[in-house]
Amino acid sequence: MNSIILGIESTAHTAGVGIITSEGKILSNQRSMYIPEEGGIHPREAARHHSDIFPVLFDKAFKEANLKPSEISLVSYARGPGLGPCLRTGATAARAFAYSHEIPLIGVNHCVAHLEIGLLEGATDPVLLYLSGANTQVIAYASEKYRVFGETIDIGIGNGLDKFAREAGMGFPGGPKIEKLAKGPELLDLPYSVKGMDMAFSGLMTAAKSKLDSGHPIETVTYSLQENAFAMSCEVAERALAHTGKTELVLGGGVACNERLREMATIMTEERGVKCFIPSKDLCVDNGVMIGWLGYQMVNGDYKITEEDNRVHQKYRTDMVEVTWR
Ligand code: ATP
Ligand code: FE2
Repeated sequence: MNSIILGIESTAHTAGVGIITSEGKILSNQRSMYIPEEGGIHPREAARHHSDIFPVLFDKAFKEANLKPSEISLVSYARGPGLGPCLRTGATAARAFAYSHEIPLIGVNHCVAHLEIGLLEGATDPVLLYLSGANTQVIAYASEKYRVFGETIDIGIGNGLDKFAREAGMGFPGGPKIEKLAKGPELLDLPYSVKGMDMAFSGLMTAAKSKLDSGHPIETVTYSLQENAFAMSCEVAERALAHTGKTELVLGGGVACNERLREMATIMTEERGVKCFIPSKDLCVDNGVMIGWLGYQMVNGDYKITEEDNRVHQKYRTDMVEVTWR
């Protein structure tokens, strides 16, 4: 039977409501991002934004999909990882909707959702290069878990880019602003920190800010920053491909919207004879569709919904999830 799934995302700055069919047809992908007036993200303000905007997003999603709530067969929301107040807002919206329409409710892992949406693009057993604000991980499936093969040991790559951009007076989110400014070919000498399979971005961001302060043009600094950060990420992804023998790479997370990163990953995979799957930008950033899609994969597989599914989990790591549906 072709069922219809409602997916709800609210782990950090983005509130998302997505509707997708069990055949992978996207019927709506509504998103709204909380943008702080100044400084970084305030969890409680972001949560207030989400609770204000959810009714609007629900309404738009159902209108666009031309559906009634009673036509939904599963509600899936992101249990974590993420910011407590934001997670609770999404969980409350999901619960209220599911209970009032007597629809089963499942809570899923946000990071795994970024990976599984890549399977919708055609990948079957990929390595995921997951680059977002808070997370920077290289993930692949091995014996019932999505294992983290490498990750950042300090800040997430996107948060690093955002921090640099904020200090350089560019506003939030920083990643897209840095991308627009970046212009080569001059490459400044900046830290390149790959330690085994792990990466560190904090020193790179600080060094880039000092280059800017010492008079280097913003175009050159942002270009050099991107080249180093993305080359580090691609190097670890390439090693994970070599180590696991897998032949597919999927990009995910907001930073995967970046054209230079997409180009680097494409070149690396072509050189290795590996396939590269790059979801559309509105599926790379945080969105409800990927949450709905993962919920359906789990329920359609062997996953049994439990009481746990009702509770958010701020530190719900990728490798804590029992992958019973593959
Ligand atoms: P997660 O909870 O998975 O860590 P997130 O809350 O950070 O996700 P995402 O939407 O996955 O949310 O990613 C947001 C990040 O992506 C921000 O740090 C933003 O600067 C970055 N980003 C968005 N577009 C681009 C781009 N074109 N180039 C570089 N970075 C980008
Ligand atoms: Fe995300």
